[in-house]
Amino acid sequence: MELSFNLAARLDADLQAAARNADLADAAAFAPEVRVADARHGDFQANGVLGYAKARKLNPRAVAEKLAAALGPSVREMCDIAIAGPGFINFTLRPAALHGWLQRWASRAALAMGAAENSPLSGQTWVVDYSSPNTAKQMHVGHLRSAVIGEAVARLLAFGGAHVIRDNHLGDWGTQFGKIIWAYRRHLDAAALARDPLEEFERLYKAGHAAAEAYPAALKEAQQELVKLQSGDADNLAIWKKIGDASLGAFQQIYDRLGIRFDHTLGESFYNDKVEQVYRELTAAGLATESQGALVVFHPEHPRFATQPFIIRKSDGAANYASTDLATVLYRCGHFQSDAIAYVIDSRQGDHCEQLFLTVQKWFAQTGRRAPRLEHVSFGTVLGEGGKPLKTKSGENIRLKELLAEAEERAFALVGDKSADLPEPERRAIAAVVSVGSVQYADLAQNRSSDYVFAWDKMISLDGNTAAYLLYAVARIHSIFRKLGAAPGDAAAEAGASALETPAELALARKLVKFPDALQTATTSLRPHFLCLYLYELAGEFSAFYAADKVAVDDLPIRARRLLLCARTLLILETGLQLLGLRTLQRM
Ligand code: ARG
Repeated sequence: MELSFNLAARLDADLQAAARNADLADAAAFAPEVRVADARHGDFQANGVLGYAKARKLNPRAVAEKLAAALGPSVREMCDIAIAGPGFINFTLRPAALHGWLQRWASRAALAMGAAENSPLSGQTWVVDYSSPNTAKQMHVGHLRSAVIGEAVARLLAFGGAHVIRDNHLGDWGTQFGKIIWAYRRHLDAAALARDPLEEFERLYKAGHAAAEAYPAALKEAQQELVKLQSGDADNLAIWKKIGDASLGAFQQIYDRLGIRFDHTLGESFYNDKVEQVYRELTAAGLATESQGALVVFHPEHPRFATQPFIIRKSDGAANYASTDLATVLYRCGHFQSDAIAYVIDSRQGDHCEQLFLTVQKWFAQTGRRAPRLEHVSFGTVLGEGGKPLKTKSGENIRLKELLAEAEERAFALVGDKSADLPEPERRAIAAVVSVGSVQYADLAQNRSSDYVFAWDKMISLDGNTAAYLLYAVARIHSIFRKLGAAPGDAAAEAGASALETPAELALARKLVKFPDALQTATTSLRPHFLCLYLYELAGEFSAFYAADKVAVDDLPIRARRLLLCARTLLILETGLQLLGLRTLQRM
């Protein structure tokens, strides 16, 4: 029996082969659409017969029967096949097949191999553009989602076989620098700068901004500082560089806590000398035109962008967000040879992305380049419990470092309730993992397209679809092995397992073999919540199994098969959580 990693994909291929073997009319056009089935109907179900038969005025049940009869012996050995309703084909895996799958896919390396095998991502280079905050400001709660979702997406793509390049596209070249430099020259507090540089730059920006609003002379001076910076003045560049370094230092502390490491941090400034080529080529291609002194791109075929310009050079001649983003695509395709770019940016930048993508498609087509696949991995806003964007009482954005500190205190309280007997340093270490994990997971467990409500009590809780619930399930399985003095995934011990038998064993095994499907859905849609939901359901299935069937029984073959189920649940929970960017614990 050949037990492929992704059984749904395998059954899909088997049905396509059956269609050819049974000489089904137009067999190449038949898409079996095998999906995970509702448990009442078995494990998998082919939905594609109906549509195929209807379009050709055939009887769907007859087509389904013909297909089922043409399935090869290895499929029959693997599952029970039934025709249901108007023409669905249902597949129920036999206990031996479930067992065989669990034995075949027994380690992290095996899962990774299975995920990358036959994956369309294998051999592709993806740039994931995420986090990408603006310098000179602390990261606040609004920066959480891009970092967290981007990291999970990057890990999923890499697990699916892609070569992933993580690029932090910092906003380090805006008009704000004129104001900061202006204030730096007049109001710098050297002691404050030494204490917390980013804090001081933020204060200087506010001072510069207020002065520029109040006094036209100050505004003018700030603009001159900006012009000096942009024309390469050494003093201003040195201040600008200090601001960048201070910002990165502060960002890095957040990235360390979130477990994020970038391959590149190429800010907008990096593309400053690469925009001329963009202007030149887009103008030569007839895509860009001058309008009121600015260089703009219209998309006549588009309902909005026929009249709403994509400004790629400002009327004062300066580059902007669009010019650097266009130059960035060119650089990523040339330098990184990227096949695809995922932009993990807030949904409010939807128009920017759409205009950017349309412009790139046309520009690359006209210049004979192969356009990369461009994906806006967009996400909604983080809301407070009242449904308004999350802010402090005084209306400021909540700083990410303060938010993570609060998470840690709350997680420490939770760990204290649960494991008061552990020594304090250990409880602190556990709280560090649970707190960050809870914040990450609460963000990932939602469909990223929706806004999400930041609610401490729901997020840091052992109940429901939360990080603590899943981390606790992981720790509990570790403790089962500890108590028995056994190691998870001991192949020799597992070889002695008897056949899966009880309803709870079979239900857990049925859930385990569907991991590849959840993984694939999450990866191809770039939506980690599909994986979260699966892991949550898996942990629930494990609890039901653990409540129903005793693991530490005297009958060794029964004990071995139950430990096999424990070990695979552990493997898949840990692999899944780590793909989401979480750390896991052995004890909690
Ligand atoms: N710095 C931008 C912001 O804070 C996000 C940049 C996203 N990446 C990009 N290539 N546009 O809004």
